[in-house]
Amino acid sequence: MVTVLDRNIRPEVEVVTPPVARGEFVVPRPGTGAAAKKFGVLPMPKLEWNAEVERETAHLYEKVKAVIPPVEWPFHAPYVHAINKLKKQRNAVLLAHNYQTPEIYNCVADFVGDSLQLAKEAAKSKADIIIQGGVHFMAETSKLLNPNKTVLIPDLRAGCSLAQSITGEDVRLLRERYPGVPVVTYVNTSADVKAESDICCTSSNAVQVVESFGTDRVICIPDEFLARWVATQTKVKIIAWKGHCEVHERFTGEELRRYREADPTVQILAHPECPPDVIAEADFTGSTSGILNYVKTKKPKRVVMVTECSMADNVQAEAPNTEFIRPCNLCPHMKRITLPKILDSLVYLREEVEIDPAVAAKARRAVERMIHLKS
Ligand code: 13P
Ligand code: SF4
Repeated sequence: MVTVLDRNIRPEVEVVTPPVARGEFVVPRPGTGAAAKKFGVLPMPKLEWNAEVERETAHLYEKVKAVIPPVEWPFHAPYVHAINKLKKQRNAVLLAHNYQTPEIYNCVADFVGDSLQLAKEAAKSKADIIIQGGVHFMAETSKLLNPNKTVLIPDLRAGCSLAQSITGEDVRLLRERYPGVPVVTYVNTSADVKAESDICCTSSNAVQVVESFGTDRVICIPDEFLARWVATQTKVKIIAWKGHCEVHERFTGEELRRYREADPTVQILAHPECPPDVIAEADFTGSTSGILNYVKTKKPKRVVMVTECSMADNVQAEAPNTEFIRPCNLCPHMKRITLPKILDSLVYLREEVEIDPAVAAKARRAVERMIHLKS
């Protein structure tokens, strides 16, 4: 059973609604430049396509040649070359989400994965500097787990409609309405929201996290569709919030039925941020890494990837014998991260991710609880 609430905290089915108009992304305050003072700014490297760059990036082009035409490589390669050199010089690592473009995912990332894998990598990191190839909540999570390290995001405007849908104040109101009911917060939220939560979850461990309390009811916010999917996998009653991912909410069951009619053998793989009628059509529902593993292990002939568009390009490079049908919805926030902005981050050490220490201490507890949950 699912109860969905909105910002007025009026029960309808129980889902709870955000007050902020979708698309109004608040640009967080830029960093103070502490990292630039600590490590120093470097000269911008020359960005030339020459024999040395061609030779030293040839092995990387091999990984992306199925999705990047040869005529485009001379534009990417000088950045790839410069970024890989500067990462070593700075003792920096680049953590890239599965939705990053193929040249970032395959050619400059040190670690790639879903939100949970990136958070775990951030926790283990020995680097001085972490650069997040992803959106702001992911960079905040890395900073929570590495309070003494420099964490940079190449574009501070890389937000998320789910993170934008709820505030810490909303969570306090939910707690007043449901005293004693544990609060599970999706990692796609701000540090303020995490700070008001008992534990975080991602799409790959949400069911396990919800069941970890042993209670009959759990507040699972802010993604209504993820919460509705979790409710189909557990006996725990779920109280949800009416937040949605602006990328996944656009898919429809109707379009998937058309793909299935055209080819009944096609495999439909969906992310749990999709609406319930989409999930109902799917052969498999899972996190971005769950989808990637499904394709790598089951080697389906044809798949429809019902998630952000770059995933299909990244998976394609690793599964050359699978044909991908791409209903192409791009995440505009993920796409703010580009090779030139990553290079700027390494040269000028911007934009620094900062979190109020009092908020960070509480939010860190919720993230660490999730990371240390026994599977
Ligand atoms: P994953 O944790 O499955 O990678 O999802 C993160 C995300 O933002 C999906 O839209
Ligand atoms: Fe947020 Fe959706 Fe983009 Fe993921 S795809 S970062 S949930 S807006």
